[in-house]
Amino acid sequence: MKKFIIGNWKMNLNVHEASLFVMKLAEGLPIKRDVETVICPSFIALQPLSLQINHRQMKLGAQDCYWRDSGAFTGEISATQLRGLAQYILIGHSERRHIFGEDDREIRFKVQAALRNSLTPVLCVGETEFEYDEGDTLHVLNDHVAGGLLNVGSDQIQDVIIAYEPVWAIGSGRTPKPEEIEQAVKIIRTQIAHMFGKNVAKNVPVLYGGSVNLTNARTILSVRGIDGLLVGGASLIAPEFVGMVEIAGEIAKQEEIKNE
Ligand code: PGA
Repeated sequence: MKKFIIGNWKMNLNVHEASLFVMKLAEGLPIKRDVETVICPSFIALQPLSLQINHRQMKLGAQDCYWRDSGAFTGEISATQLRGLAQYILIGHSERRHIFGEDDREIRFKVQAALRNSLTPVLCVGETEFEYDEGDTLHVLNDHVAGGLLNVGSDQIQDVIIAYEPVWAIGSGRTPKPEEIEQAVKIIRTQIAHMFGKNVAKNVPVLYGGSVNLTNARTILSVRGIDGLLVGGASLIAPEFVGMVEIAGEIAKQEEIKNE
């Protein structure tokens, strides 16, 4: 199965810096048949970067969108406006949920807005440290997945990506054990299977995000059921990000040989 390496730049780099960074990235970034490399800069950099990048080498994603297509929503950017600039949209990132108070209802509207506009939503789900300590991961993941995908049609689910991002792992330097990631992926796929059937659930890409770096990328990418990485801080270090794409390519190839 195809691997996804998605870089979430968050609120970093101005337009000029973004362009310089992409230039550096482009020098080393391999083009791999089985790896989809995506960078998610700030909205303001999407347009210039869409003209700059080699679209075979990398794709663009937005970090968020508003769920209405147009209208009197000062300061917002819709999925309709992102068409032609980005192919992916991160939705429900933990910083959106916890700093900006987005709830499952709003997140589900955003997932639908992305799909309605032919963009791929990357629905982020994951438990907080408190929920992890309380042993509530299962319920939180079920709620986030069910809440985010509630009105998605069975003809649309194949266009959705899920990213498992434990809130306590984001930017903290801590990651769950591989078996915990594997368990979380199972929970996510089981919930999708309940909603859309087993065959569909098998094919929905599930990524991991939270303190991924070049050192732990191979271990995490080797976890059963994981189809890629959502990378924050390390996506702004060119050799780290390039290295992860290389590793994803190697693992995709090994899987292909194994499945032959
Ligand atoms: P991090 O962020 O890799 O810096 O932990 C991941 C994310 O927020 O998507």
